[in-house]
Amino acid sequence: MRPRRFTALGPLTGRIRVPGDKSISHRSIMLGALAVGETTVTGLLEGEDVLSTAAAMRAMGATIERDALGTWHVHGVGVGGLLQPQTALDMGNSGTSTRLLMGLVASHPITATFIGDASLSKRPMGRVIEPLSQIGASFTATPGGRLPLTLTGVQPAIPISYRLPVASAQVKSAVLLAGLNTAGVTTVIEPVPTRDHSERMLKGFGAELHVEVEADGTRVIRLTGEAELKPQAIEVPGDPSSAAFFVVAALLAPGSDLVIENVGLNPTRAALFDVLRLMGGAIEELDRRDVGGEPVADLRVRHSLLTGIEVDPAVVPSMVDEFPVLFVAAALAQGRTVTRGLEELRVKESDRIAVMRAALDLAGARVTETEDGLIIDGTGGEPLAGTPEGASIATHLDHRIAMSMAVAGLASGGGVEVDDTRPIATSFPVFEQLLATATATASASEPA
Ligand code: S3P
Repeated sequence: MRPRRFTALGPLTGRIRVPGDKSISHRSIMLGALAVGETTVTGLLEGEDVLSTAAAMRAMGATIERDALGTWHVHGVGVGGLLQPQTALDMGNSGTSTRLLMGLVASHPITATFIGDASLSKRPMGRVIEPLSQIGASFTATPGGRLPLTLTGVQPAIPISYRLPVASAQVKSAVLLAGLNTAGVTTVIEPVPTRDHSERMLKGFGAELHVEVEADGTRVIRLTGEAELKPQAIEVPGDPSSAAFFVVAALLAPGSDLVIENVGLNPTRAALFDVLRLMGGAIEELDRRDVGGEPVADLRVRHSLLTGIEVDPAVVPSMVDEFPVLFVAAALAQGRTVTRGLEELRVKESDRIAVMRAALDLAGARVTETEDGLIIDGTGGEPLAGTPEGASIATHLDHRIAMSMAVAGLASGGGVEVDDTRPIATSFPVFEQLLATATATASASEPA
């Protein structure tokens, strides 16, 4: 365990740049590893989760190297060319690696065993086992459809039409990736839109993929299999889910005026910033542009007094990873914030409803847990008391709990003790460094 007490550090100012998007980074390694020839990736997130994906793709035959300038070079094996891994694939903490790679393996004639840490080993895999069984893959899983599990792929696989029973980009992507090496058309029907990085990137690599949007908003995604992927030069935009911690920190810390450069603003990801604006947050988008086929802008964030709101459950999929830090913003807002429709949060790296309820309670916030969300009565801008002497926030191997409660610490009187900061490295290895940078500029530029 590596505990740390996060305390108020003054305003956040200057300019920072957060690391590459985690979802896009995983996909760039996976698709690069399936293209024939060299794919280059700049701005890749070098977090533990993405490194787990890279290690697994190497174990299945791809060559993946980082050069001295930080560009990644991926030499793929071609769709259909994945090799039998010789040892179990260690997915660490990463649900995205596990579920997407299960999709890839499912339509190759190989067997792979997936293992992971204590958090990942509690998470449900039945949601991918179900559609991948329909294409003909077979599974031996730990009871409850959990890791460790062994998957034997099938060739030829059966092209399926699958309606997502849960709004999950990971399940959608697993089925589409299985469809790459499946003759015929694989269809995914998505009643509630989720992040569309897989669709964008598959098209970018030359796959035949079409999306039809029905009158009620349902998306029907069709992928023609036995695809030939062409290597690409990919530039990964900054991760909005990482930027989120600095956006909220700057909104909460008096005197802040911070620019976060190069933040991905794909509409299927960026709802947190809209919700915070509705709460009164001063978040401006500067220099909107396109990076690697994704919309990007620099975000200028200034300290703001926030007002509680009822968050529309329809936006949940577009900010599913951002609720822990939104709860922190709500804890400092004026009035009540109500969130609903968050049942998926209970099966993330931790049960993020229960864990954030306990964490915010301990830090002095007023929080009520419901079946599918939290109700938070904010302080109206007054700092939280912080965690009592001798008590610490239990992060449960969940990076986003650790970072959210670090932000709560910045907005507290007495500081917030987090039991373990190590999980932060799964998605945002330079978080603490950037926090020091953003809070150092102010003190450095103050007149002596
Ligand atoms: C991800 C999808 C989301 C998200 C995760 C990354 C992805 O999970 O929580 O951090 O890259 O596809 P679900 O699709 O299970 O909601």
